[in-house]
Amino acid sequence: MKQFEQADVLNQLPDQFFAKLVQKVARIIEQGHDVINLGQGNPDQPTPAHIVAALQEAAVNPAYHKYPPFTGYDFLKEAVASFYKREYGVEIDPKREVAILFGGKVGLVEISQCFLNPGDIALVPDPGYPDYWSGIAMARAEMAMMPLKEENQFLPDYNEIEKDVLDKAKLMFLNYPNNPTAAVATKEFFEETIHLAKENDILVVHDFAYGAIGFDGKKPVSFLEIQGAKEVGIEIYTLSKTYNMAGWRVAFAVGNESVIKSINLIQDHFYVSLFGAVQEAAATALLGPQDCVTELVATYESRRNAFIHRLNEVGWKVEAPKGSFFCWLPVPDGYTSESFADLLLEKAHVVVAPGIGFGESGEGYVRVGLLCGEDRLVEAADRMAKLNLF
Ligand SMILES: Cc1ncc(COP(=O)(O)O)c(C=O)c1O
Repeated sequence: MKQFEQADVLNQLPDQFFAKLVQKVARIIEQGHDVINLGQGNPDQPTPAHIVAALQEAAVNPAYHKYPPFTGYDFLKEAVASFYKREYGVEIDPKREVAILFGGKVGLVEISQCFLNPGDIALVPDPGYPDYWSGIAMARAEMAMMPLKEENQFLPDYNEIEKDVLDKAKLMFLNYPNNPTAAVATKEFFEETIHLAKENDILVVHDFAYGAIGFDGKKPVSFLEIQGAKEVGIEIYTLSKTYNMAGWRVAFAVGNESVIKSINLIQDHFYVSLFGAVQEAAATALLGPQDCVTELVATYESRRNAFIHRLNEVGWKVEAPKGSFFCWLPVPDGYTSESFADLLLEKAHVVVAPGIGFGESGEGYVRVGLLCGEDRLVEAADRMAKLNLF
């Protein structure tokens, strides 16, 4: 068959590191082994029933069988504004400060198309969520990595960024609670971020994908709670994790009016908005009872406790994460993140994500997702213990 030559920009896209891992896992499963997969970030629980019911009811509404308004229904933007007011005490203008997205991933990729020209710099957390890289590559811009180090609680140290990099930087991605390090941000850190952004004219994009998932009674801070945040940035919030709606593809961006306008402009050219019934179900999720969220966070916290407790019991001395549904664990001496992940897969049939897949500074760690029941997590820890590495 004729092979068409693809555009240069597609050849510049970063390799999908984790596709390789998926293949390795499939091979072990084919051999008939009982694999415990803690390598992915796909929520394992179903969407709460009242949200599914809202979709079922809305699906038969003929009004939703037509094209939706291009930037989404007003009722969903109003629900987003009420959600921010209720959860974070933040005032949002639903008409000017909300953009509806086909999932957070889409927003995170399109923001680079909106604001980066070839040669511009985007500041990116390392380790970090690889989709930031994809958008930057598509915009033919450059990345400057901000290492997230354990001694800095996995927050970037802005003093380490060179002056000429700051001069050229147009965009900065942040993400707390963090994937993959599970770190949480402080208000002081966001204040420092706003100061830096103002001084250097940088647009801050805070990816708040794990915004609902904070442990030990501590609610993660929204970037928009901090004074001045809207002047320098936006927050991207997805329903994927908070309401187990990863398959529904619904998220939103909130914050700086001019940025929201640009997102809506690019989306005008790419899409018509989401299916109206999905928008209605999303509004139901945001405005309805929130016990499902409280229960979900309690489930993750209980899994975290069981898993971390067992790891420490078997001799792998690790700290409990403060948020997200990940654990970021230092690998034993003598291993790289990839050789250790390979060993766990081959010998214990436990899948973890090697830190190097999230960037160079992810070397030395593996990421574990708390995305199966406590018994399986404890069994995974026991299988690791049998390798006598700790
Ligand atoms: C840090 C981070 N940001 C964004 C997303 C994207 O979520 P979605 O596209 O489902 O909204 C994810 C999903 O795994 C994530 O881990």
